[in-house]
Amino acid sequence: MKFGIAGYGKMSSAIAQAAEEFFAQTGTKVYIYTPSLSSVQRAKENHPQAHFCMEMKELCRRADMVLLGVKPQIMPMILRKHREDLRGKSVLSIAAGLSSESIRAMIEDAACVQRIMPNLGVLVSEGMTVFSEETTLEPADHKYAIELFEFIGKVKILPENLMDIASVLAGSGGAFYTMFVEAIAEAGLRRGLRYQDALDMVLQNNLGTLLLLQNGHDSRQLRLETCSPAGTTVEGVSALEKNGLKHALHDAVEASFLRSKELNKND
Ligand SMILES: NC(=O)c1ccc[n+]([C@@H]2O[C@H](COP(=O)([O-])OP(=O)(O)OC[C@H]3O[C@@H](n4cnc5c(N)ncnc54)[C@H](OP(=O)(O)O)[C@@H]3O)[C@@H](O)[C@H]2O)c1
Repeated sequence: MKFGIAGYGKMSSAIAQAAEEFFAQTGTKVYIYTPSLSSVQRAKENHPQAHFCMEMKELCRRADMVLLGVKPQIMPMILRKHREDLRGKSVLSIAAGLSSESIRAMIEDAACVQRIMPNLGVLVSEGMTVFSEETTLEPADHKYAIELFEFIGKVKILPENLMDIASVLAGSGGAFYTMFVEAIAEAGLRRGLRYQDALDMVLQNNLGTLLLLQNGHDSRQLRLETCSPAGTTVEGVSALEKNGLKHALHDAVEASFLRSKELNKND
C-alpha cells in the first residue's frame, strides 16, 4: 500500500505517529504533503522513512490511499482542485460534519470515499474511530483502513445518519472529559491539595472506574456501591444532580452536534 497523508496537523500527525509500526509491518510506503515548513520539519523528524511530496498534486498521484487531514472548511477547495489527481484513488476523510454524500459530490465520484471520525486517543493506541457504513472503498482498501485503525484503538462501523452524533461522542468527547478532570482537581486544590496530587488522584480514579465499566460493571450499580447511606459520596452526587450536570452534558453534545450539521451546509 502507498499511503498518503495530506496535512500534518494535530489529528493526522497523531494517526501517522501511532501507525508507524502498522506501516512497517504491512510494508506500507508513506507519503506526506503538508504546506508549512514547520510542519514539514516536524514530520521529517517523526517519519525519517517517509517520502515527502513538494505539492498536493504529487501526493495524490503517488499514493493509493490518501488521508485528508485538513479542516472541513478547506475540504471543498482541496477536493475540487485535486479531483483528477485523485481519480481511482481511495480517500479517507476525517473532517467533522462533512457527510459521505457531500464528499463524494465535491469530488464528483472520481475517487472512492470513506468518512471516518478518529480521536487523539490513537496516540496511546486507545483511539475510538467510527467508520461510516456508507463507503465506496474497494473491499481490500476498506479492510486495510479498518486494520490500520484497529491497530491504534477500537473501530465501530455505524450508519451514515449517525456519523454526526458519533463524531461528537468519539471525536469531541475527549475535550469534554478534560474539563471534567480539571474541575475536580481544581476543587481539590481549593481544599488544600497540591494540583498535581489532585490531578494524579482524579486520573487514576477515572482510569479505574472506566476499566470497571468497560469490563461490564453497571454504572448505576457502581455509583450505588460507592454511596453509603447518609454518607459523603451521596451528598456529592446529589449536588451534581442539583446543579444540572446531566443537562450541561446534554447541551454540550447537542451544541457540537448542531455545529457538525452546519459544517456540512457550508460546503
Ligand atoms: N483535532 C482533533 O482532535 C480531531 C479529531 C477528529 C477529527 N479531526 C478532523 O481533522 C481535521 C484536521 O483537524 P486538526 O485539528 O488536525 O487541524 P490542524 O492541526 O489545524 O491541521 C490542519 C492541517 O491541514 C493542513 N493544510 C492546510 N491547508 C492545506 C492544503 N491546502 N493542503 C494540504 N494540507 C493543508 C495544515 O498544514 P500545515 O500544518 O503544513 O500548515 C495542517 O497540518 C479536521 O477536518 C477535523 O475535523 C480533528
